[in-house]
Amino acid sequence: MAHDTVLILDFGAQYSQLIARRVRELGVYSEVVPYDISLPELESRRPKALILSGGPASVYAEGAPQAEPGLFDLGVPILGICYGLQAMSRTLGGQVAPAAKREYGRADVHVDEAGGLFEGIGRSGEALPCWMSHGDKVIRLPEGFTVLAHTGNAEVAAAGDLRRKLFGVQFHPEVIHTPWGKDFLANFVLRVAGARPDWSMEGFVEEAVQAIRRQVGGARALCGLSGGIDSAVAAVLTHRAIGDKLTCVFVDHGLLRKGEAQQVVATFRDTFGMRLIHVDASRRFLRQLRGVTDPERKRRIIGEEFIRTFEAEAEQAGGFELLVQGTIYPDVIESGTKTAATIKTHHNVGGLPADMRFGLVEPLRMLFKDEVRLLAAELGLPRNSVTRHPFPGPGLAIRILGPVTKAKLETVREADAIVVEEVTAAGLYERIWQCFAVLTGSRSVGVMGDERSYLYTVAVRAVVSDDAMTADWARLPAEVLDTIARRIVNEVKGVGRIVYDITAKPPATIEWE
Ligand code: XMP
Repeated sequence: MAHDTVLILDFGAQYSQLIARRVRELGVYSEVVPYDISLPELESRRPKALILSGGPASVYAEGAPQAEPGLFDLGVPILGICYGLQAMSRTLGGQVAPAAKREYGRADVHVDEAGGLFEGIGRSGEALPCWMSHGDKVIRLPEGFTVLAHTGNAEVAAAGDLRRKLFGVQFHPEVIHTPWGKDFLANFVLRVAGARPDWSMEGFVEEAVQAIRRQVGGARALCGLSGGIDSAVAAVLTHRAIGDKLTCVFVDHGLLRKGEAQQVVATFRDTFGMRLIHVDASRRFLRQLRGVTDPERKRRIIGEEFIRTFEAEAEQAGGFELLVQGTIYPDVIESGTKTAATIKTHHNVGGLPADMRFGLVEPLRMLFKDEVRLLAAELGLPRNSVTRHPFPGPGLAIRILGPVTKAKLETVREADAIVVEEVTAAGLYERIWQCFAVLTGSRSVGVMGDERSYLYTVAVRAVVSDDAMTADWARLPAEVLDTIARRIVNEVKGVGRIVYDITAKPPATIEWE
């Protein structure tokens, strides 16, 4: 089924994905495309509306991305956000100039024209809090445009050509710091553009099942499970489509959290009745990691060993033409659009070898992480696997400073379980991005009974974050920290001191290695 679609033209903003997510939260399908997508290609997508994203450049800078004039003759409603407004103004004959004062952060936007995009949000003359982030501003609007709102610093905070349904805003309606931003986008997408809100995870399941069946036909597919939610959801969805034609391989590197491997096996084999090959490769991984201290070397070894183990199993099981992967939309956008800066290299399960002979089934390619979580619930995955904190691919190996040993793995796994248990008991687990224990390499002196002890220090880390790019340490109540510390020292052998990590990211990272 063709969904009404809003296309986000990406001019290089860090917020382009967020705009698409917000539109999807309104129930309308949305995708991010490069700003210079050709007009015929754009038209072939039959968008109900276009949103021009923000961008890092000044519209007059050399090589700055420009808005193609033909966009504005398509008869499709357009909203330009920040740079999008400036690019639209420039192309249509307005003028943009550096603002005397750059405006970053909170500002008050004064509504000049109520109704329309401000319908139900603010009356004329009312001041509304919003989020701004710009150095340039529009100083002369193109013909046909009127000012809809201003701030103390920007004469044009919102403007529109009502006849052609072309609009632009200097503020960012997509960020949570513009509290009415979602209503504003809803006015544009649902009222002005009249897009039909028919995008839901319930509907997605049926469409995806049909699409997977068409792609797979009579072939057989293999899926590598990592314990993470993306590969789990991709596997369950594919299983719903093709049943026993799917085989899953769970490479258990022995570096997972307490109870995690058992849960993967129970969920897939028992709950969903899927064909699952559980490879207990923990000894192999430990052997490869012996004596290794450098974190990047740990990562490389684990990544390589993972692929090798997976390939050996695939070979042995034999006869597969297709590989199922849990690639999600942010991976696709980050590796695909020209303008977005490359943030990190992605290595999905098995950072696949170039000479791979498999075709790929990637049923989550167009989904955001929060949609994957909704889908997981829709498919009946256990709640705790849906809400579980993110966990790095190299697992506990990068939460042990220095060489990884079986004994240290046991220690950090037990300590980690206590952190999670106590944060959960305090009702804080779902408000926290990640919480865990790190086995530092340092030992310190203590007294236990009447004896001098010389035991390991465990660092407890708990952070709040929206996307792991930045994070702050979680203000866990002192009583929770106290219980965690007492329990770890009492229950986990070899640990004599607990410290709480109170560094934000940046400058620290979330993980210690
Ligand atoms: P950092 O430590 O860079 O972590 O602030 C940001 C997020 O990424 C996770 N992380 C990893 N995930 N392989 C992964 O799959 C890795 O090597 C890796 N290193 C860090 C980390 O847990 C956090 O969520």
